[in-house]
Amino acid sequence: MGDHHFEEAVEQVRKQTDILEVIGRYVTLKKSGKNYFGLCPFHSEKTPSFSVTPDRQIFHCFGCGQGGDVIKFIMEIEQFTFGEAVRNLAGQIGVTVPNTATNRDDREEEEIHTIRQAMELSAQLYHHLLLHTEHGEPAREYLAKRQITEETIREFQIGFAPRFPQFLLNFLTTRRGYSIPILLKAGLISPSTRSKDQHIDRFRGRLMIPIHDTQGRVIAFGGRLLGEGQPKYLNSPESRLFQKRHHLFNFHRARATMRKQKEAVLFEGFLDVISAWQEGIHHVVATMGTSLSEDHARFMRRNVETAIVCYDGDRAGQDAAEKASQLLHSVDCTVKVAMLPHGIDPDDYLKKHGAATFRGDILAGSLSYYSFRLERLKRNFSLQDETGRLRYLYQAVQMIGEIPLPIERDHYLQKLAEEFHVPLSTLKDQLSRIKGKKQSRNTRDKEKEQWNNGYYVNRKRKHPPLPQKNRVERSEMFLIAYMLRDKGIAEWVKKELGAEFTTDIYAALAAYLFSYYERGYDADPVRFLHYMGESELSSVVSELLTREIPEPVSEKELQEYVANIRRERLVQEILQKEAEVNRLGMIDPLRAAELLQECNELRIRLKNNDFGSF
Ligand code: GTP
Ligand code: MN
Repeated sequence: MGDHHFEEAVEQVRKQTDILEVIGRYVTLKKSGKNYFGLCPFHSEKTPSFSVTPDRQIFHCFGCGQGGDVIKFIMEIEQFTFGEAVRNLAGQIGVTVPNTATNRDDREEEEIHTIRQAMELSAQLYHHLLLHTEHGEPAREYLAKRQITEETIREFQIGFAPRFPQFLLNFLTTRRGYSIPILLKAGLISPSTRSKDQHIDRFRGRLMIPIHDTQGRVIAFGGRLLGEGQPKYLNSPESRLFQKRHHLFNFHRARATMRKQKEAVLFEGFLDVISAWQEGIHHVVATMGTSLSEDHARFMRRNVETAIVCYDGDRAGQDAAEKASQLLHSVDCTVKVAMLPHGIDPDDYLKKHGAATFRGDILAGSLSYYSFRLERLKRNFSLQDETGRLRYLYQAVQMIGEIPLPIERDHYLQKLAEEFHVPLSTLKDQLSRIKGKKQSRNTRDKEKEQWNNGYYVNRKRKHPPLPQKNRVERSEMFLIAYMLRDKGIAEWVKKELGAEFTTDIYAALAAYLFSYYERGYDADPVRFLHYMGESELSSVVSELLTREIPEPVSEKELQEYVANIRRERLVQEILQKEAEVNRLGMIDPLRAAELLQECNELRIRLKNNDFGSF
């Protein structure tokens, strides 16, 4: 019963959701023919090979092979389970989803739901303890000392975990009926070091900062000691809900401002973010106890054009800033790096100088990506002496050579010329000599990479070219494509060929398709994608659906495809038999002669284009 309603809701979501609109919130898309193209959110790339086909309501990336319908997209991008993705999308179109779990992952699904509830409840409890109880007194004092207002405490739902070893544990189990395994999975409790079957609260005597996902749901905590001590921060462990390399602190609050300003400020610390927010600077996020990951960088790129890296002014902070800015640059973010005085972090600066100065001096005065790298490069040379200066200039020009835009290259050369009092023409000469050496190798590498990718979006063409496949493979690909779109064709192919395709993936797809139609479903490629479930083959299907296949197809063409495949089967059979003849020549000459006769007959059939049937 429940399953039935759930399936109906899934159907409605698929029918009523506009995939273009949903994906458009994450990826900037440009129309080209029937498809829309953009930079793939699932892998790093510079030329768009991610496409959305509104006619079929599917997406596909020609670079990494990800593909599917709108539900799959939301699952991947938000790290949702199937049920969560359906509920999320259903909510947006006002469809209610029955609360019974699906047959798919139903236990996991229910468990995640329970974990989420436990997280939310814990956040509320910690927050309440901080604001309204005696236990919270030291934390309130600490926050006051750090000039964090009550309004901010409420906005961030900051809490306090008291020192008792089993405070949360008792509350959640005895009073609220949660099980130990659930609380362990939520990372709220840990096994006690004294006794294996004893458990204690993970967070004790710590300021609790809830961490949210993009939907604003609590997925983890950062817990700070109120004073000195180690570790200063204790975070929730990684879980199905929370991954350090994926999530950014404060994103759900910052998103609207980030989008509007097309810019975000990236900090290192929770308290930098909280402080900036309190001062009215809202487009701020931070990583959590980890350096910026490629995942983070792509996530930033999807949301803003410009990322301002604002890390501590010390050595470690600047090293981290260099890494982060390189990553952001590599995903095509416009990167800026804000410089803070040595030994000062953003929080200190804001407290000392206020938001206006922070905006005016630090953010507005931040360095461009290349200026920052040129500055960093300087540290390796002693610029007092002449050889040091020359060596720096040489490497600086080399770095400038990496910049793709000539006008930008000139800009930095000009600055360098002024700074070191050398003629611009000299630097330009130097640059063209360096570039001359590298150019030929680079272009060769690039071409090779593009070939190796198999296909890429050629700017002049409207669509990615079909991959170079041999005739048989192409025939199989086309047949499968038509079978996906037309039940009659599938039935005809089944009669003519069965699933005897020569390429493994197409043979498997054919078998899937036959069983799909046998169960009484109509041609519906997206439904078929679901029918297959989580299979490697689904990316082949989404690719086939994204490509433009000429329609309608004539019977003659279909017969030709079938003939190509049969011919190939015949060739394979002949080759096999001939190998067998060679093997048996001495061992069993009579059998070998018999086989040879068969080979000759097959060869005659091949010559006469008589491929028989299977
Ligand atoms: P305050 O020192 O209170 O100003 O906090 P902060 O958020 O500015 O922290 P800090 O600049 O020292 O560190 C930056 C970030 O690194 C923190 O917000 C944490 O995410 C992380 N971090 C710092 N210390 C630790 C630690 O001991 N353990 C873990 N897991 N992360 C830490
Ligand atoms: Mn700090």
